[in-house]
Amino acid sequence: MTSLKELEACQQLLSTYPEPPQPRQPKKRVFKRVLTGAVGAGLLYIALALFVLPDLPFPGGGYDKLVGREQPATSWHEKRVPIEVLNEIMMATPDVEKIRESSYYYTQAPHLGGKNLTQMEWTRDLWESYGIKSEIVTYDMYANYPKGHRLGMVKASGELIYEAKLEEDVFKEDPTSSHPDKIPTFHGYSASGNVTAEFVYANYGTFADYADLQAAGIDFRGKIVLCRYGGIFRGLKVKRAEELGAIGVVLFTDPGDDNGITELAGYAAYPEGPARAPSSVQRGSVQYLSIQPGDPTTPGYASKPGAHRQDPQHFIPSIPSLPISYEAAIPILKQLNGHGPSAKKFERPQWQTGGLWHKGVDYSIGPAPGIQLNLYNEQEYVTTPFWNVIGKIPGYIKDETVILGNHHDAWIVGGAGDPNSGSAALNEVARSFGKMQEAGWKPARTIMLASWDGEEYGLLGSTEWVEDHAKELANGALAYLNVDVAATSFDFAAGANPLLDGLLHRATAKIVDPESASKGNISATVHDVWSKKIATLGSGSDYTAFQDFLGIPSIDMGFSDYSKTKTVYHYHSNYDSFAWMERFGDPGFRYHVAVAKIWGLIALELSESSVVPFSASNYASGLESYLHKIQSSLSSSADPGLTAALGNLQQTIDSFAAIAKDYDEKAARLAEALSRPQPLWHRILLWYKARKINTGYKLLDRAFCYDKGLDERGWFKHVVYAPGKWTGYAGDTFPGIVENIGDKDWEGARRWVGIVGDAINRAKKTLE
Ligand SMILES: *[C@@H]1O[C@H](CO)[C@@H](O)[C@H](O)[C@H]1NC(C)=O
Ligand SMILES: *[C@@H]1O[C@H](CO)[C@@H](O)[C@H](O)[C@H]1NC(C)=O
Ligand SMILES: *[C@@H]1O[C@H](CO)[C@@H](O)[C@H](O)[C@H]1NC(C)=O
Repeated sequence: MTSLKELEACQQLLSTYPEPPQPRQPKKRVFKRVLTGAVGAGLLYIALALFVLPDLPFPGGGYDKLVGREQPATSWHEKRVPIEVLNEIMMATPDVEKIRESSYYYTQAPHLGGKNLTQMEWTRDLWESYGIKSEIVTYDMYANYPKGHRLGMVKASGELIYEAKLEEDVFKEDPTSSHPDKIPTFHGYSASGNVTAEFVYANYGTFADYADLQAAGIDFRGKIVLCRYGGIFRGLKVKRAEELGAIGVVLFTDPGDDNGITELAGYAAYPEGPARAPSSVQRGSVQYLSIQPGDPTTPGYASKPGAHRQDPQHFIPSIPSLPISYEAAIPILKQLNGHGPSAKKFERPQWQTGGLWHKGVDYSIGPAPGIQLNLYNEQEYVTTPFWNVIGKIPGYIKDETVILGNHHDAWIVGGAGDPNSGSAALNEVARSFGKMQEAGWKPARTIMLASWDGEEYGLLGSTEWVEDHAKELANGALAYLNVDVAATSFDFAAGANPLLDGLLHRATAKIVDPESASKGNISATVHDVWSKKIATLGSGSDYTAFQDFLGIPSIDMGFSDYSKTKTVYHYHSNYDSFAWMERFGDPGFRYHVAVAKIWGLIALELSESSVVPFSASNYASGLESYLHKIQSSLSSSADPGLTAALGNLQQTIDSFAAIAKDYDEKAARLAEALSRPQPLWHRILLWYKARKINTGYKLLDRAFCYDKGLDERGWFKHVVYAPGKWTGYAGDTFPGIVENIGDKDWEGARRWVGIVGDAINRAKKTLE
């Protein structure tokens, strides 16, 4: 549908970008004028024709209203709220006290996935109170809840020599630690079981760690594996253990991974100081995140009530696992002292970073003959409702939607960092949008807000919603902006699709860095003090289904202790609490406020720019650097056919880069022309050109999706970005090529070079 109202909306949209006039080009002026005049008149005629044809594929919505007289048509002269005013509202609205209130509300009661509808209703009602139409969207998820656990150490005779404490200490300084409804320590999607066996230490439990141990003759069959957290997604540690025949896994947190902020180095432990509380436990999901996120019983389709359910065995472990603290792990590790090879013998530096030497642990691999662990894990598996809150501010342009999302569920009563620092920030973005609406704003493009449930189990709420709305989203989503943990310290960190890098740079440059300001430098922006490194997106948060399943360019961002100098973050522990946040994470909630502003500014630029502010050239540079990374990693023993194929791919990328550069330049010229006053017919012409450019940008990333998906993990459709198969969090680029090279499968690698080349050619067509 289209209508005069829409054209008028565009005209208003275009008039919000006053820029200094450019010198005119005198040459060919007359001819150009006549020609564009003719084209313009033709287009005006077409526009009028469209006005009487209801079903043409243009956005709008005004048509129905005009015809149905539901609402008086907006006047031609009604001004859109200028972007400068919107930005000012965005900068002025987010408020420390409001953020503190939200943060406090969420962190005073359990809100595990599928367990707290009240909090979702509260969020919905809050957004509604800001004038944002919001609803709760329910899916039925397969998930587990803890019933019982035990970890003991026994001699072959059956004599109990140690009973591990599976609870975190209570501190009077932190009320959350004594909450009556504390959530037990457990793993999402771990299998129930009661196993007793000898055990071995497998360092981080990475693929490489297991490989080193196999080479040293360690047999995992029938054993329990003890790994420390870190390096890779925890579920993949369990996956590899299971593949190698282990019957149970225990994961512990090693202070050697606390960046030197340790008691050993002289820091006091929480609650006195910033070092880790020795009893803190990292809960978390052991789903095989790099194989497929979402409800493991509904791969690739939405978990609606009555949906067909499949056996989840390929996506979650079938052996039990438990998380424990370092304090609880020490006696178990010490039993291995002197048994089996020592971690010191292995060459890779990752083996040398254990942090419990001073506690008498020598990091021997084991097993200790006759000493067994009894691991008992009882989980209740149910299929139960999970609730997303979805808010919507309809824009004039209906098929270019900007989505902002954060998850709401936490492993613990608190969750002040993960995820409710993000939830509190999102509520302030919502309030700012409410203020803009009060000032007469209607977004040019539709804006949606999402509070996801069940992210912690495996990105459940976002994945099922994306699968449910795949068609509309593939057609209409412009970008997805994720914030999971908004603030646990002072350093900005971001990952993004390269199309969107510029948005991050521009928004952070508008925000004063709170810490610099408190030290008296009010001219330092977040951008000034940011490392400016933008990571590629892997997985581990709710952007995954958007970016990797549908090819919707995404951003993920927040403030953390990136410089590793300030505080330990008690990730997924009871001590990720409101009390910890106030004293150590973000005292004063200043960085929560900064995230809200950056988030909102990016959303506004995406929503209000007449020409979509993407950089295709930056995408091309990204592709080039990913290719170079592969080429420089290839040894001379690599297959010559592959080397040649990569050379051809280089040419494909070069030609994409040339087209991308032209496209960006064309877009910039158009944006510039649209920023100047133009006669009506010329504006209509420019607007139709902008529509075309914008559609190309919108669909560009979709071109990188490959129907069949990655080998053995077909849910992941994007051929440029995926989580590493054996890392989970960290992003792989050109995963199909990289993984086959890793396996020395040259034919497979060549096949993937072909698939990537086809995708880049499709991307070129999008821009033609
Ligand atoms: C959900 O959260 C609210 C608000 O924090 C709390 O009052 C309520 O007890 C929680 N519900 C459950 C079932 O834990
Ligand atoms: C787990 O197995 C052990 C050893 O077989 C047994 O003694 C214990 O009772 C079992 N625990 C539970 C809760 O079934
Ligand atoms: C303030 O910070 C900016 C950015 O880091 C820096 O360039 C500038 O020199 C600082 N000014 C003062 C007075 O320290």
